[in-house]
Amino acid sequence: MNKLSMDFSRMDPFISQAELKEEREKHKAMYSRILESEKNDGDQVLGWMDLEEIANDEVVLTIEKKAEEVRADADLFILIGVGGSNQGARAIIKALQTDGPDIIYSGNNLSPKYMKDILDQMEGKSVYVNVIAKNFATLEPGLCFRMIRQRLEKTYGLEGAAKRIIATGSPGGSSLEVLAKDKGYLFLPFPIPVGGRFSVLSPVGLFPIAVAGIDLKALIQGGKDMKASILTEKSEDADVLTYSIVRNKLYNMGYAIELLTYFEPSLAYFSKWWIQLFGESEGKDDKSVFPSAASFSEDLHSLGQWIQSGKKNLFETFVNIKKPLEELIVEPDESSDYFDYLDGKDFHDINQIAFKATLQAHSDGNIPCMTLEVPELNAYYFGQMFYFYEMACYTSASILGVNPFDQPGVEAYKHYMFESLKQ
Ligand code: PA5
Repeated sequence: MNKLSMDFSRMDPFISQAELKEEREKHKAMYSRILESEKNDGDQVLGWMDLEEIANDEVVLTIEKKAEEVRADADLFILIGVGGSNQGARAIIKALQTDGPDIIYSGNNLSPKYMKDILDQMEGKSVYVNVIAKNFATLEPGLCFRMIRQRLEKTYGLEGAAKRIIATGSPGGSSLEVLAKDKGYLFLPFPIPVGGRFSVLSPVGLFPIAVAGIDLKALIQGGKDMKASILTEKSEDADVLTYSIVRNKLYNMGYAIELLTYFEPSLAYFSKWWIQLFGESEGKDDKSVFPSAASFSEDLHSLGQWIQSGKKNLFETFVNIKKPLEELIVEPDESSDYFDYLDGKDFHDINQIAFKATLQAHSDGNIPCMTLEVPELNAYYFGQMFYFYEMACYTSASILGVNPFDQPGVEAYKHYMFESLKQ
């Protein structure tokens, strides 16, 4: 199997091979328990590891069938959800969608302008909606769904609207399931033992991804292959374990920020998914690495200065896409624009040179740098990346000593908001 891999070779000045070996020994038993934990999931939070179940053939068939219907008829598809309920699907759709309806996102902010723009965009278009919520108590998606549902019911009537709404929620009597049954919406399961930010390879992510025309089977296979590889590799070859050790070691040395950087702008929303995964899972007990991201070359001309010469409390993980996304050659030009040294060169090769130059410069500037090498940006490797980082997040949080599967801190703002709104 061709798979993504991590390059830690520039880590030597910060963590020696001997130290890494020692750390691997120290955490070996814990890592084995993590690999085994799916079978003993007493807390019922590890359903995301069971890809055979959360992406089973039956549910994938239902999803593909409905997605085909939506693709044939929709001009506009609105994904309503927030946090883990929309980030995974958006990450891959923004990177890979090439055809199908326009896909827009709602339920993730309370801006009246943003909401009004969506209602305006619905005018005169064939609109379908997927509302996704594990609890259906979060105000943002709940309110936006009401606004959009009212508009759909006005335009298409109750029955017509019902055919255009797909609800993804917790099965077993959740308020969204009850609403879906009352109104006659297709209801897809948000698997009970799967938290939002670990849900991309379940119906939560799969349905919108299928509407975007992205190959679900390849995506799921990527996840499964990554899982199989993680389960069989020796601990000394386990990138998940080494990455988790490295980020915790660096954190303890004062490197409190991890910057995920990429030279392919279509990874912008993947980086947001990654930030949520690590931020919400690890930011607890007054500790943990702050996950952040930067898009290069653009951010080399903003944050680049800070990274190179600012406070030394940051380490970098480069995501390098090896295969060109497009073939594009620089044609010679008769005007003297002083860029003749680029004549005949391939755009991808120039981008690769920018990546290598940045890696060298930041390493020279004493920034701990590592690289995630991704053979190609397609559905299959997205599946691998999603599963790889989910496992890495679980492992890294376990080394840090926090529970990656809850998010009590998110409730704090809700408390004051509800207090004010319910007065
Ligand atoms: O990852 C998580 O669990 C959270 O980010 C949730 O997805 C987010 O809070 C939205 O929750 P819900 O789907 O219940 O609206």
